Amino acid sequence: MAVIQIPYKPQPRQCKYHQAKDIDELLYGGAAGGGKSEATIWDALKYALKYPHSRQIIFRRTFPDLQRSIIMRTLQVYQKAIGKYNQSKHEWVFVNGSVIELAYWDNDSNYMNYQGAEYDVIRWEELTQFEERWYTYMLSRLRGSTPYPRSVKSTTNPGGVGHSWVKRRFVDIGPPEQVHHMQEYDDNGNVLHWPDGMPSAGEPIIRRRIFIPANVFDNKALIDNDPGYVARLMSLADAERKQLLEGDWDSFAGQFFSSFSRAVNVIEPFAIPREWKRYRAMDEGYNDPFVCLWFAVDPKTNDAILYRELSQSKLVTSEQVAAVRKLSPVDEEYVYSVADTSFWNRSRVENVTPADIFQRMGITLRQAKKERVNGWKRMREWLHPHDAVDGATGKTYKHSKLKIFNTCIKTIEAIPSMVHDDTHPEDVAAHSLDHIPDAIRYWCMSMPMPFPFNKEKENKASRVDRFDNDDDDKGNSNYGGFW
Ligand SMILES: Nc1ncnc2c1ncn2[C@@H]1O[C@H](COP(=O)(O)OP(=O)(O)OP(=O)(O)O)[C@@H](O)[C@H]1O
Ligand SMILES: [Mg+2]
Repeated sequence: MAVIQIPYKPQPRQCKYHQAKDIDELLYGGAAGGGKSEATIWDALKYALKYPHSRQIIFRRTFPDLQRSIIMRTLQVYQKAIGKYNQSKHEWVFVNGSVIELAYWDNDSNYMNYQGAEYDVIRWEELTQFEERWYTYMLSRLRGSTPYPRSVKSTTNPGGVGHSWVKRRFVDIGPPEQVHHMQEYDDNGNVLHWPDGMPSAGEPIIRRRIFIPANVFDNKALIDNDPGYVARLMSLADAERKQLLEGDWDSFAGQFFSSFSRAVNVIEPFAIPREWKRYRAMDEGYNDPFVCLWFAVDPKTNDAILYRELSQSKLVTSEQVAAVRKLSPVDEEYVYSVADTSFWNRSRVENVTPADIFQRMGITLRQAKKERVNGWKRMREWLHPHDAVDGATGKTYKHSKLKIFNTCIKTIEAIPSMVHDDTHPEDVAAHSLDHIPDAIRYWCMSMPMPFPFNKEKENKASRVDRFDNDDDDKGNSNYGGFW
């Protein structure tokens, strides 16, 4: 029998990744070069050999990335004696019948490739490059009739279009390197329960998640062989350096609203005085969520509050109106309700527009100005943290013209999730959460710029505001016991 050569000795952090057990979802994430991808391919091989006829899949976002990393590396190091790589199917088939598929997922139509598929382990490489709905869809493909341990094991650096959801799902859940039992929620924030017919019918669905942070210094082999690597990471721009060298999840290169600050922009709710002016802003959607946001503006200072949110998919127009009315108490009056121009698209069948339906049901809509780049600029101005002086105490504090009640959870998640469009950096890249920022943008474009202020009025309101320009945003053969 041929002796299998395994040219891999896991380093201590890689061992933690390999040894994690009794988990449903794992993320090994952080600095670049920590040895995450290397650990993935050996972890996959070990599983394939240990569990005959098992099936795994490793995803990258694009085929060139897949080719350059996983395909090339597995061809280099997986021994031909134990398995064959099928070039056209992009899969490794091992002598014990196990399979590792190497795949890419670059757009929504990829769902179709996996209808009816079953996997024992699903592995996402560079998870923050993917959309959350692709990830959650594939969770449903994790199944099989053998008693093998099934899980999703991913690796990533921070940053990228999926930074926020990955951080929420794995990093923010509690201390790293511990298994957390997390409830599952649907798109509308409702707890999911096991359906009838299951052993735990009626109980909330709990998933066991763990986050294993990766640090470049974990990878001694790399540091010893290429000391210049760390120096090269150190010379990167601030946010990128923090992400790639330190694996820092709080700085975020490419973030569009990089000056968004929870401490400044998010506040505890308070009773909004009656004399404040109120507005609503809406974005259309059916499969994508329909969004309505409620704003109030202090007539003395022009300070604004985003005080209520609604973001829900699968509502037909009449249900959208009903939902908006339900959340709009009768004693609230609105100066206007501004809405996406698509509310004026006429249905061919009934010759009626959603705006007509809103009108008939008592809500008159006003068309939004849709210029994107201008709209984002204005939104930045409204949100920008700047120094203000409290007239009573003389103390300087950070202030923004628009603040958000901390009850608007989806808005607070959506704004910092937006990233610059690669080809048009002044614009926001398409994102599954962009409907809320779109509605904020419509409202901002419907209002005068938050500056220049009437300084006299400002001073009377005992506050001096200074608006910085946008610059911040631009800167904006002992193998360690593994086998
Ligand atoms: N245990 C190990 N022993 C020897 N070399 C290793 C080990 N783990 C990783 N390496 C090597 O270190 C380098 C970086 O590893 P790898 O590509 O896995 O890092 P990564 O964390 O995936 O990086 P990135 O964040 O850039 O994707 C590679 O050349 C890899 O072969
Ligand atoms: Mg990698």
